Amino acid sequence: MTDFGRQRLGVNIDHVATVRNARGSAYPDPLRAALLAEAAGADGITAHLREDRRHIRDGDIEALAAALSVPLNFECAATPEMQAIALRHRPHAVCLVPEKRQERTTEGGLDVASDQNRLTDYVWPLREAGCRVSMFIGHDPRQIEASARIGAAVVELHTGHYCDLHAEGRFAERDAELEGLRKGAAFAASLGLEVHAGHGLTYDTVGPVAAIPEVRELNIGHFLIAEAIFTGLGPAVERMRHLMDAARDPSA
Ligand code: PXP
Repeated sequence: MTDFGRQRLGVNIDHVATVRNARGSAYPDPLRAALLAEAAGADGITAHLREDRRHIRDGDIEALAAALSVPLNFECAATPEMQAIALRHRPHAVCLVPEKRQERTTEGGLDVASDQNRLTDYVWPLREAGCRVSMFIGHDPRQIEASARIGAAVVELHTGHYCDLHAEGRFAERDAELEGLRKGAAFAASLGLEVHAGHGLTYDTVGPVAAIPEVRELNIGHFLIAEAIFTGLGPAVERMRHLMDAARDPSA
């Protein structure tokens, strides 16, 4: 089997900003969380600048871009405003996600197949600026093919549905969804795309996704920030890292 190398853990610190904004205070500081996650072994930091700035704000992106030693994954909707911000900071990666104002979180994947011409033009300047562009999509082969066609370097497969099915105890459907993720990952890699995955992952659900050989990176946020309330962020990141490693190499 192809050796896809060590799987990276990207830690999403959006919900540190959610807590900060709830009181309109200056704390907790997302940058402090990012530096703690980095010290605990995170391979990258993800931050989603939403159009409505409900958690991460422009100043957070500036601070993260200036202070991180690990790569910054800038998550955003494919709007002209976000493209301008990405081109200003030139983060290591730009992950394009669908955004609806009313949603609580990113509910589904991006419909790349229906928006190919616009996205091809959108992605090009980001590539020219040296950003690795990632499309957050479901495991539908049409969306994977379209992502390759528009010039994305990476697809991030949405694991939210798999996690929801697990939480609801619908295990046969969960396993079918996992099989879809496995096939999608293999197909994407066969097209030369780097494969990432994320959304909704917890200690209970991370193993089978981490074990998919083509998945090179997991991006995990809400659960780690929630767990940090009880154990601290460093231990939460370390435990997630351990579970990922154990899933990939059960003999380790
Ligand atoms: N990947 C992407 C593209 C996302 O939009 C999110 C949520 O912001 C995540 C990963 C992380 O999801 P969660 O916070 O549920 O772990």
